[in-house]
Amino acid sequence: MDGSQTSSFTIDLRSDTVTRPTPGMRAAMAAAEVGDDVYGDDPTVNRLQAIAAERFGFESALFFPSGTQSNLAALMAHCGRGDEFLVGQEAHTYRYEQGGAAVLGSIQPQPLENEPDGGIALERIAAAIKPDDYHFARTRLLALENTIGGRVLPMGYQREVTAFAHSRGLATHLDGARVFNAIVKLNVDERTGVAGFDSVSICLSKGLGAPAGTMLVGSRDFIAAARRWRKALGGGMRQAGVLAAAGLYALQNHVRRLADDHANAEFLAAGLHAIGLSVVAPQTNILYVDIPVPKIPGLKVHLDGRGINVTVTPRTRLVTHLDVPHPKIATTLQAFREFDWAD
Ligand SMILES: Cc1ncc(COP(=O)(O)O)c(C=O)c1O
Repeated sequence: MDGSQTSSFTIDLRSDTVTRPTPGMRAAMAAAEVGDDVYGDDPTVNRLQAIAAERFGFESALFFPSGTQSNLAALMAHCGRGDEFLVGQEAHTYRYEQGGAAVLGSIQPQPLENEPDGGIALERIAAAIKPDDYHFARTRLLALENTIGGRVLPMGYQREVTAFAHSRGLATHLDGARVFNAIVKLNVDERTGVAGFDSVSICLSKGLGAPAGTMLVGSRDFIAAARRWRKALGGGMRQAGVLAAAGLYALQNHVRRLADDHANAEFLAAGLHAIGLSVVAPQTNILYVDIPVPKIPGLKVHLDGRGINVTVTPRTRLVTHLDVPHPKIATTLQAFREFDWAD
């Protein structure tokens, strides 16, 4: 049974995590050759790992069930007990992963203000690196995110900030849950898009439409350490090839089409702006629109009634993705137009 039959919503703009496997993806999953991946025996997982490592230009790759676990294992592979990582206040690894690095990894986060473009200023980073003194945690790692809130980190900044971190003895990790959105937007290849980072976590279950799965890429030694932590964190999966097959299918078929999601976000933003709403111009597939507070409950009921699922807040996030083709974006816009915006 298709899950959509259990919901009255036909359009879901809450996140790009809500996509369902396409028929082609399901066929690839059904046909997947599998083995026990904890023994390293799953040929489909092994193929996905080899392809991800090659495409991103790293020695090795490891398949995780989720982005949260991949990020956590990466932080734990880079940092030990009493170490510290520098991270943006807005970063998923700091704000939305329950402080897992501290709770489970004994790693202290040092959150730093993000700049409006999503980066962290070099001066801020420099000022946060602790001296070698036993009063302080040992600053080991800089963790960034791309895209962050739908914003693409400029290539020049990525080059500069990773070189700077390395010059100060820090390793660099990228939460690239949506790094393909950045790569497609910048029109660069994967290797160029993540150059300078020592490790990258890449989600297959966001804009790419796989039901689960995240790739962590890094050096052979780093991935060996992450593999140990993955087992401790309960992420050693057995016949995971059915999921890896979805990931492979997504890599082959759903990367270039992210440009459609970006175009749909721009179209939606322009339409909302024309209604008179204040919209943050989207760079990729995520846009933010300000909803006057008194209008929030009414707008939610209005959209619900039209089968449109949106988390309506003062700054409402709308995310375009594989399951919302252009006509559904047009329907959404029409619903926003038909709402009574008058005071
Ligand atoms: C930027 C970012 N990083 C990491 C994650 C965590 O991924 P998962 O939900 O697979 O644990 C998310 C989830 O939405 C995310 O948006």
